[in-house]
Amino acid sequence: MKLVRLIYSSAVTRDMSLQDLKGILDCARSNNSSLGICGMLCYENNYFLQVLEGERAKVSELFIDIADDPRHDEIELLGFEYIEKPLFDNWKMGYAGGSPIFQKMLEKLEMDAFEPGKLAPRQALAFLHHLSSHQSEI
Ligand SMILES: Cc1cc2nc3c(=O)[nH]c(=O)nc-3n(C[C@H](O)[C@H](O)[C@H](O)COP(=O)(O)O)c2cc1C
Repeated sequence: MKLVRLIYSSAVTRDMSLQDLKGILDCARSNNSSLGICGMLCYENNYFLQVLEGERAKVSELFIDIADDPRHDEIELLGFEYIEKPLFDNWKMGYAGGSPIFQKMLEKLEMDAFEPGKLAPRQALAFLHHLSSHQSEI
């Protein structure tokens, strides 16, 4: 079984309420666990940054569905690589909402506002991983 990690960024096509985000998260939680996919979704400044880890065919198929979702566009694939084992052990969503830890992470990257499309693959992964262990889930 070939395990992969896929990272992409996108921009929302309309304002997202907390309720909208919760809807995406609930859907991801139930679908992804039955697909054996783990990862994390981060939302801030009208952008999404998502990492998906799992079996290559399953991750590819899910990404094609997600990329087709009218709630976002400007999809940019930031990374796609083989992995030995997943870094994210379940499904999470980091909701930034301007938390101090998030702001600190932006400062480290010398970014004024969250623009995930500008991140290099390694930076995007480090960002998500750091956030996953410091951020409460919604
Ligand atoms: C930014 C974003 C991230 C998403 N992530 C996931 C995901 O990880 N897993 C998932 O099943 N659906 C995700 N979705 C929702 C899918 O695009 C799609 O609506 C869903 O897979 C349809 O599921 P259903 O056929 O069970 O209704 C995401 C949508 C958006 C806008």
